[in-house]
Amino acid sequence: MTFLGTGYLGATYAICFAELGYEVIGFDVDQAKIERLGKGEVPFHEPGLDELLRKNLAGGRLRFTTSMEEVAEFGDVHFICVGTPQRADGMAADLSYVESAVTGLAQHLHRKALIVGKSTVPVGTAEWVEQLVRRHAPGESGVEVAWSPEFLQEGFAVEDVLRPNRVIFGVKSEWAVGLLYEAHKALFDLATTEDREVPVVVTDFATAELVKVAANAFLATKISFINAMAEICEAAGADVTMLARSIGYDQRIGNKFLRAGIGFGGGCLPKDIRAFQARAQELGVGEALRFLHEVDLINQRRRQRIVQLSAELLDRPFGPNGPDLSGTRIAVLGATFKPNSDDVRDSPALSVARKLTRSGADVYIYDPEGMDNASREVSEATYSKSIVDAVTGADLVCVLTEWEEFRNADPAVLGEIVAGKKVIDGRNCLDATVWRRAGWEFRAMGRPAQ
Ligand code: UDX
Repeated sequence: MTFLGTGYLGATYAICFAELGYEVIGFDVDQAKIERLGKGEVPFHEPGLDELLRKNLAGGRLRFTTSMEEVAEFGDVHFICVGTPQRADGMAADLSYVESAVTGLAQHLHRKALIVGKSTVPVGTAEWVEQLVRRHAPGESGVEVAWSPEFLQEGFAVEDVLRPNRVIFGVKSEWAVGLLYEAHKALFDLATTEDREVPVVVTDFATAELVKVAANAFLATKISFINAMAEICEAAGADVTMLARSIGYDQRIGNKFLRAGIGFGGGCLPKDIRAFQARAQELGVGEALRFLHEVDLINQRRRQRIVQLSAELLDRPFGPNGPDLSGTRIAVLGATFKPNSDDVRDSPALSVARKLTRSGADVYIYDPEGMDNASREVSEATYSKSIVDAVTGADLVCVLTEWEEFRNADPAVLGEIVAGKKVIDGRNCLDATVWRRAGWEFRAMGRPAQ
């Protein structure tokens, strides 16, 4: 099998499917990325992936190429894993990478093969891909299309690929279903040996495409729901962490994805809910997803809240352009959109850091893995080498990504080196009692000031 696009999605799938025992080629147009992967270097941070890459390169089951001819010649099943970013001119998804991967591949296919879309796409894309294939693949090849969305979470990507909680096959023929079962057989066998089951849903193209965006829309809504509750808690003097715990015991609600904080970011949820709204509008049912606009707004407001809280804690005035934080030094702990990742795409932490600098603060950022990516995005901040470096002399410390290193930091030690013992827990990840006992003025999202 082959995987086209070796970003978070494609590289992880290529490596994990080689680990499952398949013969795999990973393809990308980015020569530098392919060279790094070929040398056993994963171009992003994902726990456990480096080891599997090196093992499977050495085992001879996995290789990487920039040659589409080689990919077309080699594969029976081709997975499309390229990015579908938000378009620069609006909320819709940019499908140009899908188009070039599919047309590039199709014209070299001379025997029957299955092209399987994995990228997150607007509903209707699979039909369009089928038309592209018909137009570009040689007539006699009989190439077919299927859609099988992925649900991997960064930081748990290896586990999510090897042990998925479900697989979805969007298909038009028995032949495609059969081949997809074969292409996942090792994954089902692994589940059997571990006494698990992997539910399979066989469905049409449109439903398969919608499964992914609907799942992400639900997750985003759940996070914004609890963040809306955090706003209410702040006004009412209640504690959102206790509230979340209490409603989460109801299994119909569940306790996952109810962590209030500075909201969701990353390469998926924010752009997916926007592309979903854009597509619904095109389909004439925009009203059905109007609530996702509100979900987005709640999410954005949480980022701004940190700036407000900073001004409150630092006793700074609010001018016509918002709070004036000039002359203050703020340590920002965390730059990635979540821990165990080096991804800063639409990162709430980095967005807050940018807002703080715009309000005039001198911002010192430290993140265990995201420094290189962050410094390319936000150049107006200073990048520190360690927690201690960032925090030394700070008037305020903001914890914005819940890395273990921050959760375990000793407030007594940090208290010795800051200029002011003031902390904002943007992720509700610190123990308020311990910090307060160490003499810190402690504020968190959706929780009372004392
Ligand atoms: C997400 C989906 O979970 C995954 O199924 C899909 O395939 C891709 O998008 P990912 O982007 O890796 O995965 O991140 P996820 O773990 O979902 O977190 C998204 C954002 O929500 C992060 O910024 C995280 O900090 C935030 N979040 C998550 C919260 O603020 N509160 C929560 O309770 C959970």
